[in-house]
Amino acid sequence: MRNPDQLERRIDALEQLESWLFHDSWSPLLRQKSEALVAELEAINQRLFQTIRHDIRQGRGAETLRTWAASMSGTHAEESYGSLDTLISGVLDFKEPPDAIDLEPEMVFYQPTPARHIFDFIERASLTHQDVVMDLGAGLGHVTLLTAICTAAQCVGIELQPAHVASARQCADELQVHNAQFIAQDVREADVSRGTVFYLYTPFTGGILRTVLDTLKREAESRAIRLCTLGPCTTVVANEPWLKPDGACSAKRTVLFRSV
Ligand SMILES: C[S@@+](CC[C@H](N)C(=O)[O-])C[C@H]1O[C@@H](n2cnc3c(N)ncnc32)[C@H](O)[C@@H]1O
Repeated sequence: MRNPDQLERRIDALEQLESWLFHDSWSPLLRQKSEALVAELEAINQRLFQTIRHDIRQGRGAETLRTWAASMSGTHAEESYGSLDTLISGVLDFKEPPDAIDLEPEMVFYQPTPARHIFDFIERASLTHQDVVMDLGAGLGHVTLLTAICTAAQCVGIELQPAHVASARQCADELQVHNAQFIAQDVREADVSRGTVFYLYTPFTGGILRTVLDTLKREAESRAIRLCTLGPCTTVVANEPWLKPDGACSAKRTVLFRSV
């Protein structure tokens, strides 16, 4: 468990210890020893996160993160989080943004794509340096940052909440990820003419989704584009006659669509 590579075992142990420490029935000595063990395991995790952050700054992030992702894929329910998310959150180390601004009813509140879906998207999309990936409703920027670290594509996160964008930019600066850019804007007003791949983790519904899909449809009249969806918006996108899914339309993972 003290071997840095045994992150999953440490995460399990920390969860167990923290739930036990919640109860009062422990003797002071046992409590003291458990708290010391928690601190020791958390320090090992922090050192691991710092090593991975160093790899990213040195340009070795793609190999390091892909290796971790492959070893921690696990089996989870569609939108649940796991050990890989703990790793990614430790590595990206976002500064918690202040309170969010109020969103319109059709706008979906911030929730990050579970990391295994992001790596699955990265593996299947075969992105090149000619791609511009736009995460529409980027939140804190997990998708934009991980895609930028792991591929040669230019990655752009468009997000309405300025505080989220500030946190995402700070993370990109600290990790020296130069192919990630963040724009604080309503997607309906954004210039999407550079995009080749558009990522949507159901950022909005109803009329807003309709407006954005119509904009993307117009873009697709002059060039081929792809959309990657996760969550309930997949059903809406699957009904667009100008888009064709790559393979089966599963609710359990991201679905890639191409314009036809
Ligand atoms: C479900 S989260 C997805 C976050 C991110 N794409 C990910 O997968 O990790 C939806 C995000 O979309 C943002 N959002 C909602 N409506 C938006 C709009 N019209 N323009 C820009 N961002 C929007 C929300 O603030 C929220 O951060």
